[in-house]
Amino acid sequence: METSNINRLLKMDDASFERLSKYVTTEYGIKLPDVKKSMLESRLNKKVKSLSMNSYSQFLDHIFSEQGRQGDLFDVIDLITTNKTDFFREAAHFQFLTSTFLPSYSNQNLKIWSAGCSTGEEPYTLIMALEEYRKRNATLSYSLLASDISMRVIQSAYNGIYTMDKLTTIPLEMKKTYFLRSKVNPDITRIKPQYRNKINFKRINLMDNSFGISKVDLDIIFCRNVIIYFDKPTQEKVIRKFCTYLKPGGLLFLGHSESIMGMNLPLKQLQPTTYQLQ
Ligand SMILES: C[S@@+](CC[C@H](N)C(=O)[O-])C[C@H]1O[C@@H](n2cnc3c(N)ncnc32)[C@H](O)[C@@H]1O
Repeated sequence: METSNINRLLKMDDASFERLSKYVTTEYGIKLPDVKKSMLESRLNKKVKSLSMNSYSQFLDHIFSEQGRQGDLFDVIDLITTNKTDFFREAAHFQFLTSTFLPSYSNQNLKIWSAGCSTGEEPYTLIMALEEYRKRNATLSYSLLASDISMRVIQSAYNGIYTMDKLTTIPLEMKKTYFLRSKVNPDITRIKPQYRNKINFKRINLMDNSFGISKVDLDIIFCRNVIIYFDKPTQEKVIRKFCTYLKPGGLLFLGHSESIMGMNLPLKQLQPTTYQLQ
C-alpha cells in the first residue's frame, strides 16, 4: 500500500545535516553528532511537510532566511531540544537547600534562577520547597527567574497546566496546597495563580554573552540536565559565566550526570552536583 506523503520520512542529506548541526552547536551549544541524524529526521518531518517542502536544503534555506528567523526557526528549536523533566527530580537538591543550606545562609532575601526550566516542573518544585520552608521561617523571601531557549516550553511552564500523572512525585498535602484540579476534566490540574505569579519567565540562551540579568546578584542557580547536551569546553564556558552572576557563597546545582571535574573554576563541591562560589 502507498504510504501517504505526509507520513513518509523525508531523508536529510549529509550537507544539510552538517549545516543544521553546525548552526545548532554554535548558536545553542547543543551537540548533534552523526548518530542524531535519524532523531532529527523524525522530529522535523512533520514541520518540513507542513511547509510543503520536499528537501532539507530548501527547508534550511527557509528557516535561516529573514522570514524564517521570525517564526519557523523557533519551531525548529522547540523540536530539537530535549525537555524531559519532573517535579522533585533529583529530590536531594531540594532537601539540601531547605534543610542544610538555608538555615545557615545569612541572606533571607533570595534571588534564584532556574536556567533551562523546561515545562516548569523545576521552578514549581522550588516554589513548593521554599513555601514549605517559609511556614517555619517567615522572614525568608525570594524571587525566582525561570528561563529556557524553547518558547514552547516557556509558554507551557507559564500556563502551569499538567495531567494528574505528572504529579505522582508530589506529596498529597502539597498537591492540595499548590494545585487546583479542573472541574471539567479531573485529569487536569493547574498550579495556583498566586504561586505561578511568583516566577518571572524569560527566554534566555545560555550561549549568549550576557544573560540580561545583573552580575553578582544571584544566591542560587539551578541548571540541571541542560549542559549535558553541550561539549566539555562549552560546559566550562557556561559555568564560568554562571560564576559571575552568583554572589560569593551562592550555590550552583547541576544535574546528576553533570560535573565540573577537570575544570578550573572558583567553585567548591558541597555534595554531589552541588557547588558553592568561593
Ligand atoms: C532536559 S531539560 C531539563 C529541565 C530541568 N532543568 C530538569 O532538570 O528537569 C533541558 C532544557 O534545557 C534547555 N536548553 C538547551 N539548550 C539551551 C540553551 N542553549 N539555553 C537555554 N536553555 C537550553 C532545553 O530547551 C530544555 O528545556
